Amino acid sequence: MFFSNSGAEANDAVIKLARKVTGRLNVISTINSFHGRTISTASATGQAKHRDKFNPNMPNYRFVPFNDIGALTKIMDENTAAVILEPIQGEGGVNISFGEYLKQVSDLCEKKRIIPAYR
Ligand SMILES: Cc1ncc(COP(=O)(O)O)c(C=O)c1O
Repeated sequence: MFFSNSGAEANDAVIKLARKVTGRLNVISTINSFHGRTISTASATGQAKHRDKFNPNMPNYRFVPFNDIGALTKIMDENTAAVILEPIQGEGGVNISFGEYLKQVSDLCEKKRIIPAYR
């Protein structure tokens, strides 16, 4: 259990924990996502308007289309520490995850020993 005072702080913490636990660097996020306003969570955000005005961003963030399990499977590798996504994207336009997507993400992460973070 880790108490935090904001969404951005919770997401920063999960990224740090994932890197510490896995010893890996890369974090996979989704296009149109929003993960907060700190430099690390802005870098994890899949929207240029919330992210790129603060360049340079933190390195080691990768982006795939939301609801696309094939794209996620393809980009996951031995450098992936975590997958961060919203079950329903809010800031990105109220985009709902379809069907088995979240379960497939979770199963994939478990198989590859990657930390899934839903918020
Ligand atoms: C999905 C998501 N993650 C993170 C945040 C950041 O939360 P906070 O503003 O509490 O730092 C928000 C805020 O809107 C959010 O919608």
